[in-house]
Amino acid sequence: MNRLLGILISFGLVMGFATIGWAGNPTGYGQAGGEFDITISRVPAGEKAKARKMKPPFEATPEILAEGKKIFLGVGGCVSCHGPEGKGDGQAASNLPIQPRNFTNPKFKKLRKPGELMWVLKNGSMGQTGKVPGTGMLPVVQPKGFITEEQGWKALLYELSLGGK
Ligand code: HEC
Repeated sequence: MNRLLGILISFGLVMGFATIGWAGNPTGYGQAGGEFDITISRVPAGEKAKARKMKPPFEATPEILAEGKKIFLGVGGCVSCHGPEGKGDGQAASNLPIQPRNFTNPKFKKLRKPGELMWVLKNGSMGQTGKVPGTGMLPVVQPKGFITEEQGWKALLYELSLGGK
């Protein structure tokens, strides 16, 4: 009984903090299209300069994009959340309170350097900056994730090609 009470209290505290910490939930939070503020980089301040310098090892040639598409739809599993066209409307998205990134948004592509996105592929978007809550975007690139860095870059270049410039 006491144990149950303890669990209930901890749960209450966590939910309380969650509500206080992220009082500024975006419009559409918990709904399709309810992305968390895209103007905030997901890379913590101390690692940002280094992350922004990481560059893709390939040009986005048609061959590389075709490989990236295969990874996005296949082994990477990106499609389940990000959707077949990268609009953030995958089947699993409706279960997430914070929606996956819409890669077709031109504003988003201007905001981030590819290296910052690679940082997220390696570390996930787990609330590391303290400015954004943790999300369903888990680390996907090894060692924390399951695809190689090379596969990660290909999937990224493919994503960035969606929706035009
Ligand atoms: C379980 C669902 C899920 C899967 C699977 C998933 N993502 Fe995500 N992704 C998300 C969510 C949710 C966000 C939004 C995170 C945020 O707002 O901080 C996101 C954001 C991103 C971002 C943007 C990060 C930023 O700085 O704004 C990139 C890039 C990304 N995902 C790439 C991928 C790639 C590549 C794959 C496949 C290898 C993948 N994702 C698989 C849920 C997912």
